[in-house]
Amino acid sequence: MDISQILNELGEDRELYFNAVSPPIMQTSNFAFKKVADLRRAFQDEMKGYLYSRGLNPTVDILRKKLAALDGAEDCLVFNNGAAAIFAGIFANIKSGDHIVSVQKPYTWVQRMFDVILPRFGVTVTYIPGTEIDQWKNATLDNTTFYYLESPNSWDFALQPLEEVAAFAKTKNITTLIDNSYCTPLYQQPIAMGIDMVMQTATKYISGHSDTLGGVLCGTHAMMKKIFDSEYLNIGSGIQPFNAWLLIRGLRTLTARIERITKSTAAVVQYVKQHPKVEAVLFPLDETFPQYELAKKQMKGACGLCTLILRTPDMESIVRFCESLQHIMMAVSWGGHESLVIPKCAGLQPEEFDPANPEHRYVRLYVGLEEPAYLINDLEQALAVM
Ligand SMILES: Cc1ncc(COP(=O)(O)O)c(C=O)c1O
Repeated sequence: MDISQILNELGEDRELYFNAVSPPIMQTSNFAFKKVADLRRAFQDEMKGYLYSRGLNPTVDILRKKLAALDGAEDCLVFNNGAAAIFAGIFANIKSGDHIVSVQKPYTWVQRMFDVILPRFGVTVTYIPGTEIDQWKNATLDNTTFYYLESPNSWDFALQPLEEVAAFAKTKNITTLIDNSYCTPLYQQPIAMGIDMVMQTATKYISGHSDTLGGVLCGTHAMMKKIFDSEYLNIGSGIQPFNAWLLIRGLRTLTARIERITKSTAAVVQYVKQHPKVEAVLFPLDETFPQYELAKKQMKGACGLCTLILRTPDMESIVRFCESLQHIMMAVSWGGHESLVIPKCAGLQPEEFDPANPEHRYVRLYVGLEEPAYLINDLEQALAVM
């Protein structure tokens, strides 16, 4: 389906609501019935109709249809945030005694799930770089049931060869889930490459305005039903109608924002790359990136995130750089209108800082919707005082 149709029409039945262009926020907890038989039917399969908004809700359903179509998936569930989407996608597919193979350094709260929560249920995890298919094959045990991927990673942009990993997983009956937040469905289509479930944090580009959280999980209808019937209803992590409406609003401008951010990021990357105080810039579609060929093969583009490795022996100069920025804010997250930085050393105690470790000198930069020259001027003055 044409992307314009997905973003502007799919799932919307305007005649149902006075031909309003913007859909109503169906702010209701429950739905009333006139017939006991209808209520009985709703109890039998809550995923088939409206009973209670912990399950389905009409505003959320508009969003589900659009997001599933964007990912080329049969179905989709939308959660209150990305971490909840990942949790539900994994939890519904593992049992005590299972083994998971995961990329090393997955998103923080996934790592916490693997290191702290799942061991309580007798599930073990092996971390691998994941950049080569043989690493997946070698880490797979008889009890491996799940592969967790994040391609690219949102700090160092390490990629996994998605088609190869998906094909091997299928031979072993292993379920695959990828965090596709960096690319969004506009720049990478993992379902078409054979991955079972695609997750993205809608808090980032789908919202686009840093005013709501959301999490998307796409896959087959059978898989979404399995999740819906278990953790989704129990944990109650489905998105609320107002937040779903904000995400529908975000979708209207998704392509325009991504296009602009892509162009601005390319300009900013070119600037920082040549700066003497920047040792290197990590960006998957830069020719110097170690997995540039794979990135070109499986990604249609790269947008707002890149990581600067600052050339400095001390943490104070990294702190000075970040604190000297006048317009680019220092904050977690990304994907909104506003440009952001976050230094890796914020997660370290000062005595832990090791300048020989390039990771300690990482500053992740997110390029938002501002004019590139405005951002470059800000970076220039902060690098000068660094
Ligand atoms: C790569 C990545 N995946 C998942 C998440 C989790 O998303 P949320 O914050 O919506 O829970 C984040 C959040 O920053 C992220 O950066």
